[in-house]
Amino acid sequence: MADDTTDTKSSNQMWGGRFASGPDAIMEEINASIGFDKKLFAQDIRGSIAHATMLAHQGIISTDDKDKIVHGLNTILSEIESGNFEFSRQLEDIHMNVEARLATLIGPAAGRLHTARSRNDQVALDFRLWVKEELQKTEQMLTNLIAAFLDRAEEHAESVMPGFTHLQTAQPVTFGHHCMAYVEMFGRDRSRVRHAIEHLDESPIGAAALAGTGYPIDRHMTAKALGFREPTRNSIDTVSDRDFAIEFLSIAAIAGMHLSRLAEEIVIWSTPQFGFVRLSDAFSTGSSIMPQKKNPDAAELVRAKTGRINGSLVALLTIMKGLPLAYSKDMQEDKEQVFDAAESLELAIAAMTGMVRDMTVNTARMKAAAGSGYSTATDLADWLVREAGLPFRDAHHVTGRAVALAESKGCDLAELPLSDLQAIHPDITDKVYGVLTVEASVASRKSFGGTAPSEVRRQIAFWRARN
Ligand code: ARG
Repeated sequence: MADDTTDTKSSNQMWGGRFASGPDAIMEEINASIGFDKKLFAQDIRGSIAHATMLAHQGIISTDDKDKIVHGLNTILSEIESGNFEFSRQLEDIHMNVEARLATLIGPAAGRLHTARSRNDQVALDFRLWVKEELQKTEQMLTNLIAAFLDRAEEHAESVMPGFTHLQTAQPVTFGHHCMAYVEMFGRDRSRVRHAIEHLDESPIGAAALAGTGYPIDRHMTAKALGFREPTRNSIDTVSDRDFAIEFLSIAAIAGMHLSRLAEEIVIWSTPQFGFVRLSDAFSTGSSIMPQKKNPDAAELVRAKTGRINGSLVALLTIMKGLPLAYSKDMQEDKEQVFDAAESLELAIAAMTGMVRDMTVNTARMKAAAGSGYSTATDLADWLVREAGLPFRDAHHVTGRAVALAESKGCDLAELPLSDLQAIHPDITDKVYGVLTVEASVASRKSFGGTAPSEVRRQIAFWRARN
């Protein structure tokens, strides 16, 4: 809260020239970002070293000053890494904390580092570097998750389970095929990550405050030194743009949605009623009151993390939507959203990878469920089309009558005696029993991308070659 002492505070070291007194305490609190942007220290120092090196190369600062600056920055890097750096909220953000410390370490030469740049292009640079590294990490984590699914799919290419629509038993599928559905989803997430890396691979430094600079800088040199493909092409856009952060959040939101659907399936599958999978102790907890319980907490938390990630995406879109070009301080609020979403996404992918690798699959339960609910009714209809020449619509009707009869007798389709089936349609022969088992049903679905074990193995081979 504001109090009288604020007036006696010294004005800000960096921009305080025209201010008579220090900022009000509330102002300091709302203005400071050091609490979260200190995460960018390594990127900030790397960016400054590249900038100073370029300034010296272009003859804008002396080599002697550049050497002092680079040495000082490296000292600060090790101070921060070893926890021996005192961050100050009065110095607002990571950029000014580093620069102030540099001045203490090397004296007046420190004042030359900020030539031909502004905090606007500096923060755009630091944040882009951070998001790029996070995307690279995400790409690797998705690769590990895909690998976990490929192993499970291979192991269960022939294991039958019920396939669902509307969460009602639809047609039998294999567990391997179901696993490969997730491989497709996470494969798309990974290609979105790769595209995002391509989009953001342009260096902002040198756009300066918004208009570029009169100093003879070389933006191609700094871009190259920092591992970017090329410099950005418009200085106004450069300091206004946070698309790279929003793209990261949208990718995280879509991947989060996929992870959450998987989490929901694991929650359902691990209930005693389904009993399709059993989570390892490592990814579940017990109840403090009900000794029999094993709760899928990790899956539930993955499902919940998705809510946070979506919140971050909506927050940043909303922060940005009304901003005139170029930089506005609103944009400082970008970082916490991205940092929080990145942490949630990393945790969610890691937890899912562990769960998928560790869970025990109960193939007997899956097989029993696969045959219930008249899941091979479509196979009967298809047989009537193929073998008895019925139009599919008529076959559908005949099959419906067979299902109703089986239901009234409390048995499966395959358990209906031939005489019953022939009473419904005279052309039915005992050959029909060959298509009424779940194994036969699954094996028959050899269409490209279908659930037949041979097709699932083809899909696995495709992804193994790409993972
Ligand atoms: N801490 C600021 C941010 O994160 C740095 C840029 C400040 N620029 C400015 N002109 N005040 O956005």
